[in-house]
Amino acid sequence: MSPVGLCGLLFISVSVYYWVPAGCYANGKVTKVCGSMEPHHGVPGQTAHSPYRLDTNTTTFSPRERIKVILSGTSYFKGFLLQARDAANQGTVGTFTLTNRNKTQLLTCNEHQGSAVSHTSDARQTEVCVVWNAPADAPTQIQFFVSVVAHYNVFWVKLPGPVIYQHGVTPHPPQPDTPPPVQPTTTPTILPGPFTSDGCGQSKSCLLDPPGCDPKEEPHCFFLSMTTEGPDKTSVIFELSGPAEGYIAFALSWDTWMGNDDVYMCVKDGDRVSVSAAFVSGRTHPEDQSQVGLSSVSWRLADGAIQCKLSRPVKLVNQEPARYDLDHDYFLFLTSGHAQYGKVWKHSHQPLISTHRKHITGPPEVLRGSRGPIMMKMHGALMLLAWMLTGSVGTIIASFYKPDWPNQTLLGQKIWFQVHRGLMVLTVTLTIVAFCLPFFYRKGWSKHAGVHPYLGCCVLTLSLIQPTMAAIRPSPDSHRRYIFNWAHWGVGSVTEIMAVAAMFLGTRQSSLLLPQPWATHVLIGYVTWLASFRFLLLMLKHLYSKEISGSDDQQAILSDQSEHRHWEFLMKSLILTALALGSSGLLVALLSAVAEI
Ligand SMILES: *[C@@H]1O[C@H](CO)[C@@H](O)[C@H](O)[C@H]1NC(C)=O
Ligand SMILES: *[C@@H]1O[C@H](CO)[C@@H](O)[C@H](O)[C@H]1NC(C)=O
Repeated sequence: MSPVGLCGLLFISVSVYYWVPAGCYANGKVTKVCGSMEPHHGVPGQTAHSPYRLDTNTTTFSPRERIKVILSGTSYFKGFLLQARDAANQGTVGTFTLTNRNKTQLLTCNEHQGSAVSHTSDARQTEVCVVWNAPADAPTQIQFFVSVVAHYNVFWVKLPGPVIYQHGVTPHPPQPDTPPPVQPTTTPTILPGPFTSDGCGQSKSCLLDPPGCDPKEEPHCFFLSMTTEGPDKTSVIFELSGPAEGYIAFALSWDTWMGNDDVYMCVKDGDRVSVSAAFVSGRTHPEDQSQVGLSSVSWRLADGAIQCKLSRPVKLVNQEPARYDLDHDYFLFLTSGHAQYGKVWKHSHQPLISTHRKHITGPPEVLRGSRGPIMMKMHGALMLLAWMLTGSVGTIIASFYKPDWPNQTLLGQKIWFQVHRGLMVLTVTLTIVAFCLPFFYRKGWSKHAGVHPYLGCCVLTLSLIQPTMAAIRPSPDSHRRYIFNWAHWGVGSVTEIMAVAAMFLGTRQSSLLLPQPWATHVLIGYVTWLASFRFLLLMLKHLYSKEISGSDDQQAILSDQSEHRHWEFLMKSLILTALALGSSGLLVALLSAVAEI
């Protein structure tokens, strides 16, 4: 299917997908979004301060107590979804009782009847009052959350409400079969100062990006350290620091792919940081966020960096969800991104992945990481080689060097032709190989990559048309030969322009993000360099042909011609050498940047 057709279909299916539930949600039956509390209205939620608030008539409670919860607004709302959650693990807790059955209704979230409340119609209201019934086995801290829809397109997702505490609480008696909790969850404290990379490799293992940076001096340093603690080395302290707008996280992974990873997240929520553990089963949102098993949690926000520290027992097998055993080798992922109301968004950059597996409880070492997957690096390198060197030199040879070496042949063909054909076949081969790599890496089409992959498809298609066209070209004396000449030149030019555009976009792809604006400047330099040489060669060609035709003495023409040819040949050889050297220099600069990611 053509990209345009694909886009059209995608647009229609997206519209249908968002439109259908919208019709249903006016009745408030929103149990599908119990977990995320996010209305599927096709636009992101508001980030600005909301005009709504949640209040309770108490800040402490006892089991089985009834607590009044009021949602009110300085402006009206049409819909809402209210839940009470365990502040520690975010599970829904207790049930609600309605005070006005005309305007509110109970929902069944997580197979728990009455655990959420929503609107009954999209009539405007400014205040809703319900009663929350604390269960007999209520956790120690409860927080209320509400999503509020003002208009279809204007809504706030999971606004945090008041936290209420159970007074005189005693820990639950342990169940007969479950072992006692390994370590109680502690309230996070604020770190006294930044972490340091002193002692990395001696007393702790560290993953640093850029290599050798120190989070004490540079807030832009991505830093993860691991220290085993306790006399029997039964737990590990992790320190995590890095520049981030919303969250910073690290993951333990069996492989270098995202999915089936044990994730630890430090998420900024206003001027606080919440630290939690989660499990990522696919290329999706982290699931089952909880603080179970984490202890000694502390955090700090300064200079645009998020820092947090947590401790975890080496083995946490009886927890639900089970966390990975730290007495094993894992790849370490370090990632950061945006967050909203404490909910993380997909990381904006490729995560930093340690170059090898690390035995978490093993001896201290300094680890290196890479943000560029090797397949994407190969893709970038081969494409750059093809389109900055072999392709452009091969094209220039055909455009300007045909009259040179008139009497020499190479393997039975003119030299220019052999060189042109050789370089172009190499270019096409490199393009085909490089083209396939992202498909292997992504195991399919690269979504979210913008125009770049489409341009790549066009470049590949045109690159395949060129040799096909050349293979079936008419003989040089055919009267239709000029059609081939023009078509071959035209398609070649279009391909080259598209390839250059694809290179510009390619340097900004998240999976191979070259330093900006440096990479763009290098490419602009390359385009300028190539264009000035083309211009120079064009001038030379023009000048030469004029001088020849300007002379009318037959004898003079012949002697002049050989003299001119000699000079022209020398000059053009120099130009070609300079062009190739300059392009190679720029190419090497970009390739070394690719290698360093
Ligand atoms: C809060 O409101 C509920 C329901 O109206 C009531 O039963 C409870 O006694 C109130 N609690 C306090 C502390 O006022
Ligand atoms: C609910 O609706 C019924 C009939 O529509 C009406 O008689 C009743 O007064 C309403 N109750 C409240 C509390 O608004």
